[in-house]
Amino acid sequence: MKKPNLSRRNFIKNTGSLALASTLPISLVELAFANSNENFSFAYISDAHIQHIKGSRFVRNWDRGLIRAVAETNLLSPKPDFVMFGGDLAQLGSKPELDHGAEIMSALDHKVRYIMGEHDYYLDLGAYWEKLFGPQYYSFDHKGVHFIVLNSIRTYDDWTYNRWPSAEQRMLEMAGLDNPNGSPFMVGEEQRKWLKKDLAKIPKSTPIVVFSHSPLQKIYKGWNFWTEDAEQIQALLQPFNKVSVIYGHVHQIQYNQIGNISFHSVMATAWPWPYPSSYAQAKQYLPKLTVPMNRADPFFERDATGWQLIDMANGNVDINFTLYDNQDRSVRFNPKNNRPEDTQYQNKDARIPPQIHY
Ligand SMILES: [Fe+2]
Ligand SMILES: [Fe+2]
Repeated sequence: MKKPNLSRRNFIKNTGSLALASTLPISLVELAFANSNENFSFAYISDAHIQHIKGSRFVRNWDRGLIRAVAETNLLSPKPDFVMFGGDLAQLGSKPELDHGAEIMSALDHKVRYIMGEHDYYLDLGAYWEKLFGPQYYSFDHKGVHFIVLNSIRTYDDWTYNRWPSAEQRMLEMAGLDNPNGSPFMVGEEQRKWLKKDLAKIPKSTPIVVFSHSPLQKIYKGWNFWTEDAEQIQALLQPFNKVSVIYGHVHQIQYNQIGNISFHSVMATAWPWPYPSSYAQAKQYLPKLTVPMNRADPFFERDATGWQLIDMANGNVDINFTLYDNQDRSVRFNPKNNRPEDTQYQNKDARIPPQIHY
C-alpha cells in the first residue's frame, strides 16, 4: 500500500505533530482504490453571504470566511480539478455584494462553477448573477462523471411575481430562515423537463453528481430545508447506479441515502445554522444526522464554518470538511452499507441528536 501523501493538507493546520496528522480524516482515494485513473478531487466552497453595509464597507466576518476558503483552496497540492461555489454568495442579492464576492472568488487559481442560492436570486431573479457567472442550470462531464447544476430555490410564480410590492421586499422575505412569509423552494417544471432530457443521453452506469442549493430531499419545511418537488427529481435520478446530491443552504453537516442517491450537505464559510429543535415534529423526514449542532460558540467567530475537499472515489463522493475552528471531519461512502458515513460520529441508535433547550 502506498504511504499517505499528506501534503494536500499540511498547509492548513500546520500539522507539525505526527499525532495530530494521524488523526486527520484525510481521504486519499489513491490509497483505497486500485484504479486511480478514475479518481479526482474538487473543492467546494459555499454560503459566503457577503453583506454590504454602505459605500465600500462589507461585513468583515463574512468576508474573512470566504477569503480564507479561497486562500486555503489555492494552497492545495495536488490541485483539485475544479472548484464549485454552492450558492448564497451574497446576503441580499445586490450588485455590490455579488461584485465583491466575485472579486474575492477571482483570486482562485481554478476553474470555478457556481450554483444559485436564494440570497443571490430574489432581488432580480438572477439577472446580474447570470451576467457574472453564466446560466442558472447546466451540466458538464468530467473524467467519466456527469455533473448537473440545478437552481433549486425557485418557488411558485404567484409568490415570485405578485405577492410583494417591491423586489427588495421579496428578497427580504425569502432571506429570513424561519419567516412564515417565505415560500417552499422548488426546481420547477422547466428544469425538470430539461433534466429529463439531459439524463436521457447518459448511460445508467455513469456516475451522476447533482449540485443544488437547497436539499433535494424534504428535511424541515419550517426553515426551507426542503425542496417541494424533491420526489420528482429523485425519481429522475433513481434509475442510475450511482448518484450523489451535494447541497449547501443548511450550513451544517447532513448526509442521507435514499435508494441509489447519496445526499451530502456542505458547510458555510459565513456561519452555522443549528439543527432546528422542531425536528422533533418532523421525524419522518430526518436524514441521518451527524454532529449535533445546537449553536455555534460565539467566542470563536469561525466556529462550525469551513469549506470542503471532495474526492470522487470511483463514482462515489467522499467529503472532507475543512473546518476552521473545529476538528476536520470526513463523510465517506461505505460500499458495505451502501450509504455515506461519518465513522467518527456515526450514531446508529439515535435519529434525533440531543437537543439543548435554552
Ligand atoms: Fe446560506
Ligand atoms: Fe440558502
